[in-house]
Amino acid sequence: MHNGSPRRHLAANFSEPLIDMGEADPRYAGVFTPIPEIGLERKGITENFLSGADQWFDRYAMFDRIFSLLNPIFERYPAAAAGTIVDVGCGFGNTTIPLLAHHPNLSVIATDLSPDLLAILHREATKRGLIDRCLPVAVDAQRDYFNEKFSDAVIGCGVLHHIAEPARTVRSAMRVLRPNAPAIFLEPFEAGHAVLRLVFNQICDQAERLGQSGPVFDFLKAVCSDIHVRSHRLNLPDWSEKWFQLDDKWLFTRRYFERLGEMVGASDVKIFHLYDRPDLFVWQTQRILTEYGQLRLDDFPDWAWKIVERYDSDFFTADLKADLINEGAVVFMR
Ligand SMILES: C[S@@+](CC[C@H](N)C(=O)[O-])C[C@H]1O[C@@H](n2cnc3c(N)ncnc32)[C@H](O)[C@@H]1O
Repeated sequence: MHNGSPRRHLAANFSEPLIDMGEADPRYAGVFTPIPEIGLERKGITENFLSGADQWFDRYAMFDRIFSLLNPIFERYPAAAAGTIVDVGCGFGNTTIPLLAHHPNLSVIATDLSPDLLAILHREATKRGLIDRCLPVAVDAQRDYFNEKFSDAVIGCGVLHHIAEPARTVRSAMRVLRPNAPAIFLEPFEAGHAVLRLVFNQICDQAERLGQSGPVFDFLKAVCSDIHVRSHRLNLPDWSEKWFQLDDKWLFTRRYFERLGEMVGASDVKIFHLYDRPDLFVWQTQRILTEYGQLRLDDFPDWAWKIVERYDSDFFTADLKADLINEGAVVFMR
């Protein structure tokens, strides 16, 4: 990076020199990488995030929605909004772009394993006049090329559960943070997913009894199997290699994060529910069917909605639903 660049101060936070990947491949112009990263295998992500980056962007660009989840937590730490932060596993910028747009004094080192997603971030940030405060860097979040104690916050949205060894990423986050600064990760939790698995299993059993079949039930079975693998991988030794190849690897528990906080020397660990709402199960089911399954809600029979509704109205109180995190934020304080 040349001396006159306004982003030079961001590059100075790396312990290794950065190179513009556009020098080797024009598709990646403006995406940097630490020189020791060059040529290393990108392990643990699928083509969804690499050659499929454009389709991923078309399907999952939701800047406003992600900002509405992250920003209330981010703004609890006012020093971060005017400082330098690291966005780990930023992808094409669902978090990076709106944070830069809403906080004019913020600078972001935006890292991801996929240079293809980072090239989209570079394009989108340039289009909006935000690129002078953003440095896209292709790097595996399990390797640490940062200097210590320069960052006012680390954020990561939906990234730890993709990483084979998330503890490495959180340890690295603790190292780069200034004292009393937060590392904020938005992640899926096992508690809420375990109940969804019970609900969906019940629906699939009932469909079998009624002699009904079709894409909705096939999809729910796949969701159940996904939840099982991500929460019980240690009981499935023959799955270990396949598990490593999955994009979605983990579902987390409160206890996992509390232990991890102790292990990496966090001074505090706080956990927040992202979707504390009375219709939690119906709403989650709708989202899973439409966003992940690309299915129509009309294809879900009335008797199945009645099963889901009972979990909201009958089995779980509002307080228990608030405890039962499905998607949550974990904040590790340095
Ligand atoms: C679900 S996407 C989330 C992206 C973005 N934070 C957002 O909110 O849209 C997960 C991201 O993690 C990245 N990722 C997966 N494994 C990684 C690793 N080992 N190091 C860095 N990034 C990784 C993927 O490339 C992908 O961009």
